[in-house]
Amino acid sequence: MQINFASIEMPENGAVVFLVEKDTPFSGLAAEADAATSGALGKARGVSRFTGASGQTLDLVAPSGLSVERILLVGLGDQTDKSETKWVELGAKITASLASSGSKQASVIVDADSAIALGVAEGALLRSYRFDKYRTKEPETKKPTLASVSVLTSRPQECSEMFAARARVADGVFHTRDLISEPANILNPESFAEDIKSLAALGVDVEVLGETEMKKLGMGALLGVGQGSAFESQLVIMRWNGAAKDDQPISFVGKGVTFDTGGISLKPGPGMEQMKWDMGGAGTVVGLMKALAGRKAKVNVVATVGLVENMPSSTAQRPGDVVTSMSGQTIEILNTDAEGRLVLADAMWYTQDRFKPRFMIDLATLTGAIITSLGHEHAGMFTDSDELSRQLADAGSSTGDKVWRMPLHANYDKLIDCPTADMKNIGGSAAGSITAAQFLKRYTNDVPWVHLDIAGTVWSEKDLPLSEKGGTGFGVRLLDRFVADNYES
Ligand code: BES
Ligand code: MN
Ligand code: ZN
Repeated sequence: MQINFASIEMPENGAVVFLVEKDTPFSGLAAEADAATSGALGKARGVSRFTGASGQTLDLVAPSGLSVERILLVGLGDQTDKSETKWVELGAKITASLASSGSKQASVIVDADSAIALGVAEGALLRSYRFDKYRTKEPETKKPTLASVSVLTSRPQECSEMFAARARVADGVFHTRDLISEPANILNPESFAEDIKSLAALGVDVEVLGETEMKKLGMGALLGVGQGSAFESQLVIMRWNGAAKDDQPISFVGKGVTFDTGGISLKPGPGMEQMKWDMGGAGTVVGLMKALAGRKAKVNVVATVGLVENMPSSTAQRPGDVVTSMSGQTIEILNTDAEGRLVLADAMWYTQDRFKPRFMIDLATLTGAIITSLGHEHAGMFTDSDELSRQLADAGSSTGDKVWRMPLHANYDKLIDCPTADMKNIGGSAAGSITAAQFLKRYTNDVPWVHLDIAGTVWSEKDLPLSEKGGTGFGVRLLDRFVADNYES
């Protein structure tokens, strides 16, 4: 989708979008359009139930008296809600309404401050994503037509300049959605690592460790998960240096299980196809690095993703196996389906050991239990740091990628103690997301750390305000904003 900004004048073709305040008469260009169409706009409003309530739309096709293809009225609701997410969702609503309308181009009149114009533009762009590369027989008449949106505002120049960075963040979101949508016969640990190398074009330093190197480092936890797969497990390290050389980096770590069958502790069949997006944490971290590098963020960042496939096979690890992690801590594998924490244990230990980051934030589709707790609205956030927690919660409210803090406590930690090894990889039936987080905490080496359990938010079975059914890109805008607001010099 092409997005541009232009100054306010009555468009002559394509679709025109007017934002209409609730129960308020038309003003500006909308009033002019109403006059030019001999009151058709007002009449349409009167005979329909369009009040201007937030998110309401009314589509007037081929209005006589004007040369434009259609006029779309979009409700703004009342003036009390001034949140940023409102404008982004409004922009998204415009794309969703016009995507397959037949119109190729739309002009949105935003006669308000630049922040609103930017939000509308961002939403329009984010909602335009579609993963349709494997649909070869879709009829032309069903395909989207809308290819460009012009936001008409009083400061088009300023808006275009400011929008450039947001467009780079959208690139990151789209890359994450691509990775999440890609099936596991295409995206495996090796092809995933190959894909990440494309970030080098943006100035990201990409390093790939294979099984030989990981064996030397003693990464028995990560390697155990991948040992039943025909693909080689990979650890990919991305570095973006946008600040002074001696600036301590911040770090992100992602779970990248390209397919999670459960291993020998095999998952039930129904719904198992969803486990293609068990690499969502890694996918988000890659999209985030693309966003940060794309907009040349003034920060040093290290990101590590552990890429493995969890398969049952004659070489797969068994329940009862004991593995030794890079940290030296041993783990009894009681359930091969609790594999994400094993991958993260080594990826996190490696990240803090080699890079001494200021803090570590891991992202993982770690537990089904977080969906029981929080559904699909908030990601679960686990941390001992009130400061990081507040910063992330704030970035969550601004971007709409919401997080909700969950507890950590020594009493939960006890639940993974084990007589056979230093710990077991499951905690029992209670508090599944928390015991998983407690497990990870044992691999932080006391570096300030946040765990985001994104199992409920990376994929959506229904259309959402900012994305169609499928990969959401959750976390990219959250963490980009978190970095921009708190860690750029
Ligand atoms: N990848 C799953 C978690 C998951 C489940 C993500 C559903 C998205 C949707 C993870 O590896 C897993 O299997 N977790 C187990 C842990 C259990 C064996 C302790 C779970 O949540 O059931
Ligand atoms: Mn699993
Ligand atoms: Zn998993």
